[in-house]
Amino acid sequence: PLEQFTTGEAVRLRVAAARAEGKTVGLVPTMGALHPGHLSLVEASRGECDFTVASVFVNPTQFAPDEDYQRYPRDLERDSELLAAAGCDWIFTPSVEEMYPPGAGTTVDAGAVAAPLEGEQRPTHFRGVTTVVLKLMLLAPADRAYFGRKDYQQTVVVRRMVRDLGVPIDVRVCPIVRETGGLAMSSRNAYLSADERRRALALSQGLRLAEESFSQGEHDAEKLRRVVLDHCASTGGVQVEYVALLAEGTVDPVAVVEGPTVIAIAARVGKTRLIDNVTIG
Ligand code: PAJ
Repeated sequence: PLEQFTTGEAVRLRVAAARAEGKTVGLVPTMGALHPGHLSLVEASRGECDFTVASVFVNPTQFAPDEDYQRYPRDLERDSELLAAAGCDWIFTPSVEEMYPPGAGTTVDAGAVAAPLEGEQRPTHFRGVTTVVLKLMLLAPADRAYFGRKDYQQTVVVRRMVRDLGVPIDVRVCPIVRETGGLAMSSRNAYLSADERRRALALSQGLRLAEESFSQGEHDAEKLRRVVLDHCASTGGVQVEYVALLAEGTVDPVAVVEGPTVIAIAARVGKTRLIDNVTIG
């Protein structure tokens, strides 16, 4: 049975006690509204660790004032059932006051890797992510922490923070889980109407077309970018924010694909902001 903790003190004691007995612990940070993408992280942790602790916390500081913090989907009862069924051991569900005590003013900034792409569209986003992720790592001092590749830049930013600050945790990154049609699973997909859902397929389809073009010998980054942009334009109703080709593990743009390269996209379909990526080379 899933054991729930609401205070940092309680979860820290539980994690510390397990580790003192020589058991390993995996941490899976989430904002809830869980789907198979999240559960794949629990699965990965279960495969590698003796205990798995998932956190469910809709983190206010990573949302800008005009974003969807208030209407972000919340259903703790359902999330608990899904986590229990997935074999998760502990769930940490702190209040906003637990994570941000009155007057909280300390933040973590990962620097240059947080600046481009998502950082350009959402200038305060990663500061909120790194601040809350570091605090989760302190309150639940696990051996490993699990993140999804769907949020590619987030994995780069978190790895950089962990390295720069010497956080004693092993960051693990898991593959993107997709729906049958290719759409990357996301809690925000719940916002999409049936028509928007069809249009949203343009992101994964565009990335797949670029992947095919690369396999057929096109290594020019700008040409591959064009493949994705043209496909989104031809679909209609998809406002692309960026398409970028980045050297794997970094946010550095490449001009020619010579090694492992990530093609990352962010776009709006109606009011919903979606991201996706694939790796080529
Ligand atoms: P959230 O969007 O809830 O995602 C939690 C974790 O699940 C992230 O590591 C994310 O990359 C992963 N994930 C989401 N969709 C996925 C998919 N389709 N396939 C694989 N993994 C997927 O990301 C956050 O929350 C927050 O920024 C957080 C790290 C919890 C800090 O607040």
